[in-house]
Amino acid sequence: MSGTLSTFKNPSDTQDGWQAISPFSNPMVAFAIVSEKDAQGFALHPLEEQALGEAVSPKRRKDFTLGRAAARQALERVGFPVVTPVLRGEHREPLWPVGVVGSIAHGGGYGVAVAAWQQDIPAIGVDIQQVEERYTDELIARFADPDEFDWVLSDPAHRTERAVRLFSAKESVFKALYPLRRVWFAFDVAHLTPKEGELGFSAAVRLPALSSGIIHMDVGISLFDGHVVSGAWLSKPIAM
Ligand SMILES: CC(C)(COP(=O)(O)OP(=O)(O)OC[C@H]1O[C@@H](n2cnc3c(N)ncnc32)[C@H](O)[C@@H]1OP(=O)(O)O)[C@@H](O)C(=O)NCCC(=O)NCCS
Repeated sequence: MSGTLSTFKNPSDTQDGWQAISPFSNPMVAFAIVSEKDAQGFALHPLEEQALGEAVSPKRRKDFTLGRAAARQALERVGFPVVTPVLRGEHREPLWPVGVVGSIAHGGGYGVAVAAWQQDIPAIGVDIQQVEERYTDELIARFADPDEFDWVLSDPAHRTERAVRLFSAKESVFKALYPLRRVWFAFDVAHLTPKEGELGFSAAVRLPALSSGIIHMDVGISLFDGHVVSGAWLSKPIAM
C-alpha cells in the first residue's frame, strides 16, 4: 500500500459513525458500511439465500452477505422498519423495494450499500476498492481517457490513489445508470473532471441509449482504512 495515504480514516477514528465515511454529500442518501465483525450474527433473508444460490464459494457467500447486511442497514435508514430482502436481477443488479434506488459493493472485508427514495434521487451507485499498487500505465489506460490519464500521472506521489479514485468513481457511475434501462456501457462513455479542492468528480456521460444529451452526475469520494469509497448520484431525472 502506498505510504502517501495519510488522509485515510481508520475505523477507530470515525467517532461520528457512518456519516464520516459516506462519500455522499447529499442528505437524502442513506449509506451503510459493514465489516466482517459487524456482520457476525447477520442472517440472509430466505429469498436472498435463494438469490445467492447453493453452489457458491465461501468468499462469494461472505461478500454477498456483507453487501446484504449493509443493504439492510441502508434500507432501515430510509425508513424500512422490517426485514426487507434485496434480490438480484438478471445481470446481478440488486433489486430494491418499489420507490427505492440503491446500490451495493464489497471489497477488502467490507460491505457497503446506499439507499434513497427515487423521488429524491433518481439513480445512485456505490463502490469500494482497496488501494493496491497494481495500477500500471497499461491498466490505467483501460479505464481512463487521455485527459484522465494525464491527471492520474501528474501527481506521482498520489498516482495509485488517483487511479483508484478514478476507477472506483467510474464503477459507481455504471452501477447508478445500469438499472435505469439495463444498458451495459464501457468506461469511455464517462468523462470525469476532478472537483477543485475535493476528492470527488463531476461526471459527464454520453449514453445515447439513455439520453440524447449529456448526463451530469456528482461523484463523491471518501478514504477509509486503505480503501477508496465512491458514490455517484443523479440529482434530477434524465432528460430523454
Ligand atoms: C458490474 C460491476 C460494476 C460489479 O463490480 P464488481 O467488481 O464485481 O464488484 P463490486 O463489489 O464493486 O460490486 C458488486 C455488486 O455490484 C452490484 N451489481 C452487479 N452488477 C450490477 C449491475 N449490472 N448494475 C448495478 N449493480 C450491479 C451487485 O449488487 C454486486 O454485489 P452482489 O452480487 O453481491 O449483489 C463490474 O464488475 C463491471 O462489470 N464493470 C464494468 C462496467 C463499467 O464499470 N463500465 C464503466 C462505466 S463508466
